[in-house]
Amino acid sequence: MTDFRALRVHQIEKTLQHRFERLSLDDLTAGEVVIRVAYSCLNFKDALAVTGKSRIMRAMPRVAGIDLSGTVESSSDPAYRPGDAVLVTGCNIGELLDGGLAEMARVPADAVVPLPAGLSLFEAMALGTAGFTAGLGVKRMLENHQRPDMGPIVVTGPTGGVGSIAIQILKSAGFEVVALTGKKADAEDYLKQLGADEILDRAALDLGKKPLEAARFGGAVDNLGGETLAGLTRNIKQWGTIASIGLAQSFELNTTVMPFILRGVSLLGINSVDVPRAWRLDVWKQLAGDWKPRNLDRIVRRTLTLDEVPAACDELMASTVQGRYVVKIGG
Ligand SMILES: NC(=O)c1ccc[n+]([C@@H]2O[C@H](COP(=O)([O-])OP(=O)(O)OC[C@H]3O[C@@H](n4cnc5c(N)ncnc54)[C@H](OP(=O)(O)O)[C@@H]3O)[C@@H](O)[C@H]2O)c1
Repeated sequence: MTDFRALRVHQIEKTLQHRFERLSLDDLTAGEVVIRVAYSCLNFKDALAVTGKSRIMRAMPRVAGIDLSGTVESSSDPAYRPGDAVLVTGCNIGELLDGGLAEMARVPADAVVPLPAGLSLFEAMALGTAGFTAGLGVKRMLENHQRPDMGPIVVTGPTGGVGSIAIQILKSAGFEVVALTGKKADAEDYLKQLGADEILDRAALDLGKKPLEAARFGGAVDNLGGETLAGLTRNIKQWGTIASIGLAQSFELNTTVMPFILRGVSLLGINSVDVPRAWRLDVWKQLAGDWKPRNLDRIVRRTLTLDEVPAACDELMASTVQGRYVVKIGG
């Protein structure tokens, strides 16, 4: 393919604008592996980039898309051969490097993960960064000695990509799960189908104001930050862990050290972009095996064409979406 279609974000004076363009491989950032993209998907970060609501791209113009799956077209690294099925999530694609919302991609070999047995190219993108991050969060919680007998795990932003998959991974790992949502009326059936044991309305739940409230949760997977994360720190039981993943509500955190010192609560940061390669491979192996969501089809809200991406990004920013968008490119 000498030239190919891509969704690229430009900075035009002070505004960020997306455009559909025809590019050649020479237009892309450097990398050892050229991939014919089969699928990509949409994450909160992609929505920020495509709508221009935030400067998540650290150089411009750049092809959007922090995730892709496809087959290797050529590689100067002998670890990959033409025809190999692969996936890439994070590793700065769609931010500093050109990303996956294009028919072709060129990426560093270190970023490439051989498609694990048990996952199709489509399923890899149904999971995408959202699934990888949820898996990384649960891996870090388990390594920090979180156990099901310590009490239920509360998942915030549970109708989103990370939250929906976190519910299912936690259930596979034997935990009771409480979904704390802003869409209780609309999303109760969806969250029950994913396996949530209890569904709480964020607007109605009082997490208290004291540094330590009566602890009710064993741990948490938090996608919101802000007041919700601060409230959670006050309500986690002895030695429980909070995996801090997102900032959908706010990047701020106003709390006290009391839960950490008096209850031994841990706040673990989760960063899905720069991850030791061994961890990355381990999480993908688990996602293709024991942790593979049984309800992956329910999580996929819709499979889009590249042309439909900008409108879907607006929906993601409006927080009206349940589940994940997969983008079919050549798959
Ligand atoms: N640390 C990392 O490496 C990493 C990786 C991936 C994602 N993230 C972050 O994790 C968060 C979730 O990502 P995602 O892909 O799952 O996003 P998503 O699909 O857009 O879901 C976010 C969910 O958060 C809730 N929400 C959205 N806006 C909100 C607001 N203003 N106030 C309170 N709740 C709000 C909604 O759930 P309910 O309506 O059910 O409450 C929404 O479905 C984002 O902040 C994202 O940037 C971080």
